[in-house]
Amino acid sequence: WPDFAPYVDEILRLKKERNAVVLAHNYQTRDIYHCVSDIVGDSLALAQKAIDVEADVIVMAGVHFMAETTKLLNPSKTVLIPDPKAGCSLADSITGEDVRNLRKKYPGVPIVTYVNTSVEVKAESDICCTSGNAVKIVESLGVDRVLLIPDRFLAANVAAETDVEILTWEGECEVHERFTARQVNQLRKAHPNVTVLAHPECPPEVVEAADYSGSTAGMINFVSEQKPAEVALITECSMGDNIASENPDTSFIRSCNLCPHMQRINLMNICESLKTMTHEVTVDPALADRARLAVQRMLDAS
Ligand code: 13P
Ligand code: SF4
Repeated sequence: WPDFAPYVDEILRLKKERNAVVLAHNYQTRDIYHCVSDIVGDSLALAQKAIDVEADVIVMAGVHFMAETTKLLNPSKTVLIPDPKAGCSLADSITGEDVRNLRKKYPGVPIVTYVNTSVEVKAESDICCTSGNAVKIVESLGVDRVLLIPDRFLAANVAAETDVEILTWEGECEVHERFTARQVNQLRKAHPNVTVLAHPECPPEVVEAADYSGSTAGMINFVSEQKPAEVALITECSMGDNIASENPDTSFIRSCNLCPHMQRINLMNICESLKTMTHEVTVDPALADRARLAVQRMLDAS
């Protein structure tokens, strides 16, 4: 990638100068994932690892809720996001007021909130979850009924794996809601030996049509452990590109969608972020303690 090389060199230099690290979600493009990141992972791993970062500055190569979670968990660090507009359709689907109204409508029902939400929403919640631990978190509460918000598809997929009654919200991931079971069936016709892995933000009929469903880290582990000859990752496109070189015996059949929010982060704005120390992510102190408690409860139960 000759055009990228000067940016990579400059980012590596600036990371030393600023005593900074780059945390990258598994959906970042492979130049970021392989060349400039210090820690990569799914939402759960990024949250777990953010706590132990000792560097002064953390650049989040991911979306805004991930940067906020990092700031919540390691508040003494300067947390930067290269583009503050890197949002998420799930985080945008619900407000703190919506959660307060749900609590009034369903008194006594615990509220489990996906980490793909704002700090305000987390502060109104009892506990958070990620796609990697949602079933475990729901069952850890020892109750018959929970609200699992805001992703209605994650909620439906969790409901299929537990006896706990799951109430939800109308949020959807704009990347995963576009996949259909028909697409999976067509893929199987064209590639009879393909192993299909689907993210739990996909509609339930897609997850049912797949061979395995799990978080982005779950999918990566599945490929490296099971070594399928042909695999289709029903998720964001960058995932397959990132792990292809580590799995030379597996062919990656493309059937993926791009996340426009993740795509806002690139080598140029990571470089600029480190140069200018922008855009700093802050958390409203009036919300921070309650939001941190919901995330911490999740980490303790994971
Ligand atoms: P995970 O990496 O936790 O599976 O989440 C996927 C996602 O959509 C993050 O925005
Ligand atoms: Fe949000 Fe979906 Fe993009 Fe993840 S992939 S950041 S859930 S819109």
